[in-house]
Amino acid sequence: MSTAIPSKSSPSPQIFPQLSSNHGEANGGNNSLDQSKSDNRTSKLIKEEEKETGKVSLHVYKVYSSLQSEGLEKESIFSDFEVLHAHTARLEGKVALITGAASGIGKATASKFISNGAKVVIADIQQQLGQVTAYELGPNATFIACDVSKESDISNAVDFTISKHSQLDIMYANAGVACNTPPSIVDLDLAVFDRVMNINVRGVIAGMKHASRVMIPRKTGSILCTASVTGLMGGLAQHTYSVSKFAVIGIVKSVAAELSKHGIRVNCISPFAIPTPFVLEEMSRIFPGVDIQRLIEITQNAGVLEGTNCEPNDIANAALYLASDDAKYVSGHNLVVDGGFTSFKTLEFPAPDQVH
Ligand SMILES: NC(=O)c1ccc[n+]([C@@H]2O[C@H](COP(=O)([O-])OP(=O)(O)OC[C@H]3O[C@@H](n4cnc5c(N)ncnc54)[C@H](O)[C@@H]3O)[C@@H](O)[C@H]2O)c1
Repeated sequence: MSTAIPSKSSPSPQIFPQLSSNHGEANGGNNSLDQSKSDNRTSKLIKEEEKETGKVSLHVYKVYSSLQSEGLEKESIFSDFEVLHAHTARLEGKVALITGAASGIGKATASKFISNGAKVVIADIQQQLGQVTAYELGPNATFIACDVSKESDISNAVDFTISKHSQLDIMYANAGVACNTPPSIVDLDLAVFDRVMNINVRGVIAGMKHASRVMIPRKTGSILCTASVTGLMGGLAQHTYSVSKFAVIGIVKSVAAELSKHGIRVNCISPFAIPTPFVLEEMSRIFPGVDIQRLIEITQNAGVLEGTNCEPNDIANAALYLASDDAKYVSGHNLVVDGGFTSFKTLEFPAPDQVH
């Protein structure tokens, strides 16, 4: 019996209601568990999960036993657990290294990867915050200090990951900085340009270089990086930042071309504006003295998709997709998460009743 039970799945309470309502569909609509029993099972699993996080295979066993004692058929129970497993542990057994993961998008992604069964190494220049984040994310998170503008730090972070977990399956080169330069090309500060390029571009390609070093011999791996909508269209940010993100999208295509023959996928994600510390710092320079809540509102109101805002978790979901086997044939791709912002422009014609 124990071999038939999917092991080590880690159910998350948010996913369960969805799973239980999809239950009939997931099993071809031919299922002997009715909705009330399914809900009952769901609440049992959640209670177990709350009591002893991390011992889910034991929970599955316990729930299986209790369902069996209720006289339910073995096949229907197992097919349901398989769906559960597929939805909750998409990175089971995988090891990820994420740069810039002490905060914002990187932190949200680290948390998402861990809740999907991965072990994550958080590499960040902020040592104290990085340690706090790793502690917060639990035993499957480890912190290593790393300045991505130093190749030796990136190389060390990769070697540390291998020495700790014996493999590297996912490299997410996410660290990046904004730049505080005058907006006109005439006043471009080339020292700032070099500094930003060093982190946003050189840091990304160095991450790919060292990840490839350990991924090529295994003939498998997924490399991700964070580009931006500012790397797709001009006019959305200062030249330096925008150019750095255009470069990231280019690097992805160039490196994907080489690594495809080694079975390694390379992709990036282009988020819309999200009020993380990075953006809020920049916003407070543009709007000095304006309170933080207002700056968050201004950032979010810039989006075009009504009724929702771009959040770190949206990028974490995109990263989970690209890192997982769900995207096993996706490479060289820029996954734009912008609510449609860069897909269209509207003609600002006056309303017909205002034209005479
Ligand atoms: N927030 C947005 O609106 C937005 C939009 C598009 C793209 N991005 C990109 O997303 C990525 C993450 O930014 P975020 O919004 O989560 O901001 P954030 O400030 O919350 O996180 C950035 C992290 O990168 C770390 N970092 C900075 N310089 C580093 C270096 N030299 N070495 C290692 N770590 C370093 C910081 O310490 C921080 O923890 C960046 O590449 C950014 O350009 C952000």
